[in-house]
Amino acid sequence: MKYINKKLTIEKLSVETIAKKYGTPAYCYSFKQFKKNILDFKENFKSFSPLICFAIKSNANLNLIKEIKQFGLGADVVSMGELMMALKAGINPKKIVFSGVGKTSNEINYAINKNILLINAESENEIKEIEKIAKSKKKRVQIGMRLNPNTDAKTLSQISTGKKENKFGINERKFLELVKYCKKSKNIDLQCLSVHIGSQILDYRPYEKMLRVVDKVIKKTDYNFQYIDLGGGMGISYEKNNQSLNYKKYNLSIKKFLKKYNSKIIFEPGRSIIGNTASLISKVIYVKKNSKKDFIILDVAMNDLIRPALYGAVHKILPANKKNKKSNKSYEFVGPICESTDKFSSVKNFQELKEKDLVVLHDVGAYGMSLSSNYNLRLKPIEILVKNSKIKVIRKRQTYKDLLNS
Ligand code: LLP
Repeated sequence: MKYINKKLTIEKLSVETIAKKYGTPAYCYSFKQFKKNILDFKENFKSFSPLICFAIKSNANLNLIKEIKQFGLGADVVSMGELMMALKAGINPKKIVFSGVGKTSNEINYAINKNILLINAESENEIKEIEKIAKSKKKRVQIGMRLNPNTDAKTLSQISTGKKENKFGINERKFLELVKYCKKSKNIDLQCLSVHIGSQILDYRPYEKMLRVVDKVIKKTDYNFQYIDLGGGMGISYEKNNQSLNYKKYNLSIKKFLKKYNSKIIFEPGRSIIGNTASLISKVIYVKKNSKKDFIILDVAMNDLIRPALYGAVHKILPANKKNKKSNKSYEFVGPICESTDKFSSVKNFQELKEKDLVVLHDVGAYGMSLSSNYNLRLKPIEILVKNSKIKVIRKRQTYKDLLNS
């Protein structure tokens, strides 16, 4: 996104033009940006050409998954719905991994029928359930086992998954025991060790540490894992002062690890592929002056983008049209929902806004629309893709008819 003649543009189309035609709030994705992200991701790890499974939970839009598939990516899914969506988008089942701590028998059954690459199991009881279902089908099912490496990802506690107090993965002692169990099983084919220590990780050192633990555990198992699934979690810069992840260092430690093991690496990135590809265009409903501060009440709310309310996450906000006057206003940007956490951010030195002005929330491609809801019975926003400066509606705005009939 950049300003051309003081107008904020996405791939040369002005936000104002998009808003006029499609209304607000609107999620607007840039094809150019996600193409760049995918190519950069591949380039960063090209020496060992990993299987890249896009984490569908970060963005489950069918049209976007179809576009992502064109670059040869697979999918990381965590529910039957996500698995169905990945298959509907045409992703090859042999490029799909199924993660998650609570897969139901129904979901396991479906995944086995679809012959996906791996079901990444997260507990002894889950492995036994997979074994039972596989046996009833007289099949041998490929699984991964998720190790809990007890590694601090140095990210927000709400999105940290690799420590022993987290519900995810299997601890080392149990992991070693279960490898022995799987070796003897007729219906379980243990192919993969998987890990995922958290999301929005900006420091490469937790990854290094995680790899050291993985190395130590594999040595103890004396088992040849065909795949090592390192999960996702690569962070992006939301704010000016955010550092960015040092991919070179991460790549080097994986290469070092691969000198000892002849395994294929799998990644499950979500945010790093789709996070910075979208903006959320919104209109000012009211400017509400209060004795302490001025509120900008937007037509976008926590039901459309819950990250600020849920994690205190900050998404940069910029005006669609820059004014000449000096920017000296302090504003609190909020939505219309009846909750005090329905707040996006407080900004100093913003240009003066008035009703009907447009503003844009940045970097909302990951965990934006996928975490949206109908809270307060608000309609879900439209999603638009800008590709080669042409606009395609990739999900229609919900209507009251949709809402009232559901
Ligand atoms: N693999 C597994 C097993 C995961 O649990 C996740 C994310 C990913 C891959 C993808 O992680 P990513 O590359 O996107 O960081 N709603 C939160 C993030 C939750 C992440 C959940 N798991 C947010 O908005 O920050």
